[in-house]
Amino acid sequence: MKMNIKTKIALCSGADFWHTRAYPEHGIRSLTLSDGPHGLRKQETSGGTDMLGINDSVPATSFPTASLTACSFAPELAERIGKAIGEEAASLGVDIVLGPGANLKRNPLCGRNFEYFSEDPLLSGRMAAGWIRGAESTGVSSCLKHFACNNRENSRFSSDSLVDERTLRELYLSSFETAITEGHPSAVMSAYNKLNGVYCSDNKKLLTDILRNEWGFDGLVITDWGGLSDRIAAFRAGCDLSMPGSRFTEASAVIKAVKKGTLAEEDIDKAVARIRSLASSSADTVKGSAFDREKHNKLAKEAAEESAVLLKNDGNVLPLAPDGKAVFIGAMAKNMRYQGSGSSHINPIKLTSPLEAMPDVRWVEGCCDDGSTCDGLLCEAVRAAASADVAVIFAGLPETYESEGFDRDSMKMPEGQLRLIDAVAAAAEKTVVVLFSGSAVECPWADNVDAILYMGLPGQAGGEALRDLLYGYISPSGKLAESWPYVYEDCASSETFSNPGNSVYAEGIYVGYRYYEKASVPVRFPFGHGLSYTSFEYSGLRADGMKVSVSIKNTGSSAGAESVLLMSRAPGDGIVRPIRELRGFEKVKLAPGESKTVTFSLSERSFAVWQNGWKIPAGTYYAEAGPLSCEMHIAGEKLSPHPDLKGTFYESCLGKPSAADFEKIYGKISEPPRPVKGFYTMNNSVEEMKDGSLIMKILYRAVESTLAKGLGVKKGSSDPSFRMMMNASLGAPLRCMQISSGVKPGIFSGLLAIANGHPLRGILKMIF
Ligand code: BGC
Repeated sequence: MKMNIKTKIALCSGADFWHTRAYPEHGIRSLTLSDGPHGLRKQETSGGTDMLGINDSVPATSFPTASLTACSFAPELAERIGKAIGEEAASLGVDIVLGPGANLKRNPLCGRNFEYFSEDPLLSGRMAAGWIRGAESTGVSSCLKHFACNNRENSRFSSDSLVDERTLRELYLSSFETAITEGHPSAVMSAYNKLNGVYCSDNKKLLTDILRNEWGFDGLVITDWGGLSDRIAAFRAGCDLSMPGSRFTEASAVIKAVKKGTLAEEDIDKAVARIRSLASSSADTVKGSAFDREKHNKLAKEAAEESAVLLKNDGNVLPLAPDGKAVFIGAMAKNMRYQGSGSSHINPIKLTSPLEAMPDVRWVEGCCDDGSTCDGLLCEAVRAAASADVAVIFAGLPETYESEGFDRDSMKMPEGQLRLIDAVAAAAEKTVVVLFSGSAVECPWADNVDAILYMGLPGQAGGEALRDLLYGYISPSGKLAESWPYVYEDCASSETFSNPGNSVYAEGIYVGYRYYEKASVPVRFPFGHGLSYTSFEYSGLRADGMKVSVSIKNTGSSAGAESVLLMSRAPGDGIVRPIRELRGFEKVKLAPGESKTVTFSLSERSFAVWQNGWKIPAGTYYAEAGPLSCEMHIAGEKLSPHPDLKGTFYESCLGKPSAADFEKIYGKISEPPRPVKGFYTMNNSVEEMKDGSLIMKILYRAVESTLAKGLGVKKGSSDPSFRMMMNASLGAPLRCMQISSGVKPGIFSGLLAIANGHPLRGILKMIF
């Protein structure tokens, strides 16, 4: 049976929050989608659905978040996690898991950094590719997100990421490119934000020219939830499916555009074909299979162990002696922070806190869950610390500090925890800090303690993993996937990141270590830093054409694993670029005395820069691994330094990039127009309009009170669910609010007309 145009358009918009539409008469079944990527968030419709992890979901294994797993430098581990999540999805009849996220960590304050892998595109892309291969191997589809340049949470629905082409290609897109070409996901999710002036869902350059034509992606593009900007532009751009399902209203405008010839029906047909290829009844995968909960818990534990980073270990204070007298201090030992808030929030099958995993160790509270403390708690902690051999403090970021939906206010840890660490470190013989956070934190206390073990957000088995790491049943082997600056102000984007309005990526290619090394800004812990209980020796680094090999030996007395990072150092040829860049990595497990040789196969692309296309600057490069370095001669082409960049930030990384510097690599930038009464559109949020419009002010207050009441908190609360929901409703453009709320579109266009000063027109729109 031929599908009529109305049905085709309807198929391209979801049926409800988590399902696509079924047309059995056309052999098309409904697809079920659920969130990932650190476990499965399958919500049953009867229990309430949402995109922020508020309502309950079916219990699932909670794995460490991407920010921690990346520290394993082991895509093979990500593959096993992806496979396990795929198995859990298949068991619940889920067709598409929404994950992983391959956005780069541009700035430590992005609230969602815990969901992303790294500041480096190769590491990020390879970890994401591993996850995707694993999930797809179970017959379940993965959906790589959020494409692209969704690097902040404040204003995430509307901000415009202004990024120059070179930076896009070398960093932000490169992470996705690797994930797609090495992982082959079935789907990609377009981001909420604009990229260089065009909403990602409408962005043809992104979704068709680059994604499909350059990278060969042939799967489905799905909008982020409520993120469709303009259905007609989105069809043209190659955006297939708008989620979630809302009142279906686009058909008449789309049909009109087809009739007028401004939209080719072929573009709709392409979207239909792509949905059909995943949803054709014959493509149904085997569902309902059981999975092994204990095996998945073990994998979650292994992932946390493989990824935890030993940041400091003076005098080998770790591992702890099994018969030693240790005291645990801090609320996080009891209520471990193990996952982030928002759409990736899992209802864990099992949860083992550090205290449950090590019940025999004495514990004192020291500070509360929210990071605050008082003299009484401090005194008790100091007394306990003074009478123990080792004081182990559990600290990090409380839930209210980092979440999807809003950015962190600062890089600092809570004041109470800082006081606790100072007081205990002064009293204890030896002090160890175990840190829980989804992103880098300032550690002004680092020199006062003996050891620091970073557990990130380690998932449900974090306590069990910590026990085995603390007591040396396994040696830590994680290395940092992002740099930890001394203070927030040290990072290249510190002056622009939190600006309202556009997101100006003025630092260009100088993100993370690419900046700190070039600018000679010392960091607390560099990218790739991580200690072990054993020691490794590197030898025999040599390059043979594009092949680089190096041998690693375990020279200590315990088993361990070493991630070998291969960096390339560029020739001093005047071409503006970072001093060194990651070009390969591999993790090797070694018994004491054992050695292995690792070989990296590089390609021309490993040395390429983007100058209106990939160009390989000829010259002598250096391959670096551990303390070793060897020459590599690359016969590329002679490229001349960019004349306009002389004397700018990009040449030297001195100071911070100015707007004038940025315009040299980007072109002229203009500030987004301020929303003005009379000219408000569906792209404006209630928050933006409330000061110019009474109706929007009333709506704002009403929604704020309803949310606060519903969550049982005060207005203005720092509760993450409240902040998230405020941003997701009142901070989102009206069009997102309309899609996500499922309210009749006439209501919103009516409200908009009233806000623009046309009350009668508004009321009529609402009625009719
Ligand atoms: C998030 C996505 C998520 C979706 C569905 C959005 O708010 O940005 O990552 O997959 O909600 O929950």
